[in-house]
Amino acid sequence: MERYREQVKCIYIDPPYNTGGDGFPYKDGYIHSSWLAMLFDRVLAMLLLMSRESSFAVSIDDNEVHRLDLCLREVFGENKIGELCVIRAEGGGLAKQVVKGHDYLLLYARAIRTFPPLLRPKDIRGDIVEVKGRRYWIETDWLRKKFGKYGTLLYEDIERIKGKKKKEEIDQGLREGRYRLIKKGSGHIVGRLRSVDEDGSKFYSVVKHLNADGMNEVLALFPRGGFGYPKPLGLCEQYIRGSTFSRRYWDAVILDYFAGSGTTAHAVINLNREDGGNRKYILVEMAHYFDTVLMPRIKKVVYSKDWKDGQPTSPDTGISHAFKYIRIESYEDTLNNLKLKPKTKAQQKTFTYPEFKEDYMLGYWLDVETKDSPSLLDLKALENPFDYKMRIATKSVAESRPVKIDLIETFNWLLGLKVKYIYRKQGFFVVQGRNLKDESILIVWRNLKEHDNETLEKFLEKSGYNPRDTEFDKIYVNGDHTLEDPFNKVRVIDQEFRNLMFQE
Ligand SMILES: C[S@@+](CC[C@H](N)C(=O)[O-])C[C@H]1O[C@@H](n2cnc3c(N)ncnc32)[C@H](O)[C@@H]1O
Repeated sequence: MERYREQVKCIYIDPPYNTGGDGFPYKDGYIHSSWLAMLFDRVLAMLLLMSRESSFAVSIDDNEVHRLDLCLREVFGENKIGELCVIRAEGGGLAKQVVKGHDYLLLYARAIRTFPPLLRPKDIRGDIVEVKGRRYWIETDWLRKKFGKYGTLLYEDIERIKGKKKKEEIDQGLREGRYRLIKKGSGHIVGRLRSVDEDGSKFYSVVKHLNADGMNEVLALFPRGGFGYPKPLGLCEQYIRGSTFSRRYWDAVILDYFAGSGTTAHAVINLNREDGGNRKYILVEMAHYFDTVLMPRIKKVVYSKDWKDGQPTSPDTGISHAFKYIRIESYEDTLNNLKLKPKTKAQQKTFTYPEFKEDYMLGYWLDVETKDSPSLLDLKALENPFDYKMRIATKSVAESRPVKIDLIETFNWLLGLKVKYIYRKQGFFVVQGRNLKDESILIVWRNLKEHDNETLEKFLEKSGYNPRDTEFDKIYVNGDHTLEDPFNKVRVIDQEFRNLMFQE
């Protein structure tokens, strides 16, 4: 939340449709109110990540579209962009009373008043500019299209080729701000300003993206299957391309927190490959096919653009790419790592009823009685932050094993740190970076059993880090320290960590 606050440009989600239907690899039959509460919580939380110019899109069908839309109005107010009808099946889906061959894509903006139209990018080739509060794109090939068979027509050549009259007309257009000169090689070309509101360039409210295409796209990568109902790439591409058309959005962050087989990442990678953009994606997925489909899919499409029967078919299309994946503590992990010590016999007995135990634990124990459990940050165990462990469920039911938790990484996320350096030296772990307030941050971790305050001071001195300097705005160290701190910039990680974990 801290790291990406107000930085996401577009969100796409494709949650369970709550059809009650079987055949999905995840739960798809909730009571309406539970389903809606699940969506509401997540949409509301993610709102904080959305930038001022961002949009939100959700795929949904008739089962929940109306309830969901009301819920989204609760979150976004009147900022609805529109409702797209997505034709998803050639002859229609499973017919009951009527044959339905479409889904919906509900579209909302963070702020509708300033949100530009979603464009059909095949019409848009140039950059977007703003003139007196209105947005235009610069059409660069209109002159050639209209008058010439000359290839690129340079401004410098107009008079020679088109004559004096044409040149004067163009000069007038430039003076009046209807045209712009754009540098091209050693000369200039004339671009025409076109309002982005022009009808021809907007999204249509009915689009066609067949679910069968989505299936085939995943089958081409994994011939034996692995994921039931992926969305067609074309749908994700159209939405993401339409909302990141301008160069200034080419490094946009795109978020999908019901990621499934990773179609959203695939679309982002394709678009970047197509236009040289640097868009980034954040995906969230809870199911096991994260390992078997989602991640392998990303690796495959990075390696080659096209695939057939599980084999790459366009070998020279590999791109340079890096992604990081993080396994987040789950609800079950948390419960598994609460230390339960019933105080009385009666208490012990009541805890043999699982539902009661869970209710009680969530209500009372989290605050008071289980304060030092691993999942709530056991401050004592922070003595050696490099060996902090929790019991994590294994694939077989009811079994768990101790797993090391990366506290250093976790703390970076809690601070919302843009990490610049991270290194280990003489037993210390050092992180440098900036937070969202653009403060310069230094974090120094140590095993308190090995490094006392004296060695900490020596290490900082030798590394040239000095709390009396202005180099850092804040310095975090774990364990109590004896550093001289005239500007009050040194923080003790332990308590700070817990505060950040549990702040609302
Ligand atoms: C319809 S699929 C998304 C498919 C994806 N758009 C694609 O193209 O592959 C919905 C995903 O949401 C996940 N999901 C289901 N219930 C969830 C929940 N309660 N919380 C978080 N994720 C959930 C499922 O594991 C599933 O992968």
